[in-house]
Amino acid sequence: MDKLLLIDDEADVRYSFRRIFDQPDIELTTADSGEEGLKLIPRLKPDLVIMDVRMGGMSGLETLRRLRQLDAKQMVIMMTAYGTTQTAIEAMKLGAYDYLLKPFDVPRLKQIVLNALKAARDMRQVVSYQPLLESEDYDLGIIGRSEGMQSVFKIIGQLAGSDATALITGESGTGKELVARAIYHHSQRNARTFLAINCAAIPENLLESELFGHEKGAFTGATAQRIGKFEQCNHGTVFLDEIGDMTPSTQAKILRVLQSGEFERVGGNQSIKVDVRVIAATHKPLEQAVAAREFREDLFYRLNVVRVHIPPLRERRGDIPLLVNYFLKKFAQARGGAPKSILPAAAELLERFHWPGNVRELENAVERATVMAKGDVILPGDLPAEISSLPAGGPDQPVPAPAAGAAAPAGGGGGRMDWASVGRTLFQWARQEGEVKVLPAVERELIIQALLEAKGNQVQAAKLLGITRATLRKRVVKYKITQELAIQ
Ligand SMILES: Nc1ncnc2c1ncn2[C@@H]1O[C@H](COP(=O)(O)OP(=O)(O)OP(=O)(O)O)[C@@H](O)[C@H]1O
Ligand SMILES: [Mg+2]
Repeated sequence: MDKLLLIDDEADVRYSFRRIFDQPDIELTTADSGEEGLKLIPRLKPDLVIMDVRMGGMSGLETLRRLRQLDAKQMVIMMTAYGTTQTAIEAMKLGAYDYLLKPFDVPRLKQIVLNALKAARDMRQVVSYQPLLESEDYDLGIIGRSEGMQSVFKIIGQLAGSDATALITGESGTGKELVARAIYHHSQRNARTFLAINCAAIPENLLESELFGHEKGAFTGATAQRIGKFEQCNHGTVFLDEIGDMTPSTQAKILRVLQSGEFERVGGNQSIKVDVRVIAATHKPLEQAVAAREFREDLFYRLNVVRVHIPPLRERRGDIPLLVNYFLKKFAQARGGAPKSILPAAAELLERFHWPGNVRELENAVERATVMAKGDVILPGDLPAEISSLPAGGPDQPVPAPAAGAAAPAGGGGGRMDWASVGRTLFQWARQEGEVKVLPAVERELIIQALLEAKGNQVQAAKLLGITRATLRKRVVKYKITQELAIQ
């Protein structure tokens, strides 16, 4: 249950909030003045405060200033009417998470509230890394007893008293974000803000402004000044996720902020000084990107002060049973029942699989199996097909993508085709390939297969594929398939 506190002196706004957030997972409290809001907060401990900038009595800005003295990391969203955006900017400098323009549109309001609640959870949920599994009183834990994970825990511990920049590396799904949050929670800055930015999820041309803000008129569309994450998160911790995806100009700015704590907003010439701790993560081997001159060497060394490398799950299979137990308990808790148990044969399959998607994939597999299992025990058949169909033998190793025509469909013991697992496998293979565009690649191969099967007859091939002949023809041209078939 997320607790929301709305501070607004207009009864209409309080009324519409009650209607908009009339949902079981949100508990909304309202206050009609800054003074009342400040009185409520220590007792209520809201996950998110939404407050109007302009109020009779204490203004929103003054309320925020006082609130900051009580609690440096209370998540706050400010509301403002057009024309008072300057105040909203001041609010962002005081660490407000975002601001909303009145009159607000409801879907956007809901989206911002959801984002803020997630950010608040990230900040609040303590990620423990010791003791490992025995104690039940953790919100969120990093599980692992393998040597590789023990070194990760050791570094988190060593980092606790320091403000050093940390670079977390590891394949996708190994737990980089989890480790970043653990570092934050065990740092001296844990009473201050933590903001995560996924550099790969923000379009290249917007990332710089997202991080450093911009001045009005800095580029087309920059209709007002904007405060960036570094300024918003002053004295706190910024987590730069997927740092491998940045333009040279953003890289240069990050380097400067790491070296001197200074930067300018995009299109601005006033130098701004901040004190921000940076934790970065990437699944890309940055050394290679440096060698290919895609990533600045000086920035790499500046980030790499402390390196935390999380080994892939297939190199620490001993952690698998612990993780499986942990996830079984977690899903049972979410459902409100007792954890399901797992048949040794199924557990053995999980331990042998090579897990290209690492812990995230294991977590998904356990969740799916929990749902699929009809009784209290998870059987091999409840696991995704690519796991339940593992041939007997030793540990399964990563397989290179098979040549066209060579792969047997992952049918899952002769039963129905499990499309989800076929999709998952293809997707993971494609991710290992890095740059490959998965959908066109797969589509092209499927068309070739169908044409081979139909001995070049397009009408029949189109039928096999479930598309029209016209579509097939277009694809044949687009993917330049004719040459390929002529060779066969
Ligand atoms: N050691 C662990 N113990 C418990 N849960 C874990 C562990 N490692 C990862 N997880 C879980 O696996 C999922 C993926 O973790 P996370 O998002 O931290 O990975 P990531 O390395 O950031 O992945 P990506 O590169 O895809 O962003 C999360 O749900 C996380 O809670
Ligand atoms: Mg991540």
